Amino acid sequence: MSEINILGIETSCDETAAAVVVNGREVRSNIISSQIALHTLYGGVVPEIASRKHVEKINQVISAALSEASMTFDDIDAIAVTYGPGLVGALLVGVSAAKAISFARGIDLVGVHHIEGHISANYIEDKELEPPFICLVASGGHSHLVKVADYGVYEILGRTRDDAAGEAFDKVARAIGLGYPGGPKIDAVAKEGNPEAIPFPRASFKDNDYDFSFSGLKSAVLNYLNQCEMKGEEIVRADVAASFQAAVVDVLVGHTIHAVKESGLNKVALAGGVASNSCLRETMKNACEENGFSFYRPSPILCTDNAAMIAAAGYYEYMKGVRSDLTLNAIPNLKLGER
Ligand code: KG4
Ligand code: ZN
Repeated sequence: MSEINILGIETSCDETAAAVVVNGREVRSNIISSQIALHTLYGGVVPEIASRKHVEKINQVISAALSEASMTFDDIDAIAVTYGPGLVGALLVGVSAAKAISFARGIDLVGVHHIEGHISANYIEDKELEPPFICLVASGGHSHLVKVADYGVYEILGRTRDDAAGEAFDKVARAIGLGYPGGPKIDAVAKEGNPEAIPFPRASFKDNDYDFSFSGLKSAVLNYLNQCEMKGEEIVRADVAASFQAAVVDVLVGHTIHAVKESGLNKVALAGGVASNSCLRETMKNACEENGFSFYRPSPILCTDNAAMIAAAGYYEYMKGVRSDLTLNAIPNLKLGER
């Protein structure tokens, strides 16, 4: 089989990223310039600052991805770029760069959905994984339970009705004074705490077994903190973190395993920033073992926003004949499975 080299570009939020991936699975380079330190000053991502930083970094990051892969634009078969969902000003930087290169060098262009990228990180991690499988996508902006019927063919079984899982991690971390980004900090602090110390709620819905809700849980944590303060009781941060995390993980794992059983499939994958969570990885692994399901999860570097996952997703779209033209635009609320 001849080699298809895809240059991936990702700028949907606060990472400026470019990567070269061969045949959708072999990473030749994966450059990520993170803005986290900058946004930490403000306790969250400031869209205007994110866009400006992307403009500063994008050319450097693309050059670094090519040189680390020992390639030039002449070796690239297609450019895959995230065009949604995300921050519109941030997305536009990647989309404009990709269109400029495509036009100047006559290279094919493929617009990629950010979540499709997160899901496709699993193809890089596990060279044998093939659809169909069930994927739990949990990131800062999204919590989706997805049936991946085939490459690029998705059926959304459930989604969050309010906050995304990562957003809940970030908000609770702020409330207990851990700062931004909250997910990794709660993950670390929770290791010292008792997950059964505080019985936080686990939300479910009568009309859809697979939908999520995390805003009630977030409010329950805030109420608990207020009550402790009013009663003059000591707040044990590690117990709050561990009990909150246990509530999130219970729901994520419970819904996912239920969906796999109902679907008749036997493969489970994780994706998105929250997929780095050590408690989620461990609990899902154990639940899969108990039920005889195969379990897939990308390494943490592929869970966070990166461009290798965008190149992997772009490869499968490219092989199906999908091409974008120079009218490609940033779509901040792009739905999975739409073009
Ligand atoms: O996928 P991602 O990098 O960006 C988006 O597309 O949103 O996800 C970022 C989210 C943040 O909310 C962050 O707090 C969360 O993923 N996160 C974690 C962990 N690492 C990152 N949440 C829980 N545990 C972690 N270890
Ligand atoms: Zn993401």
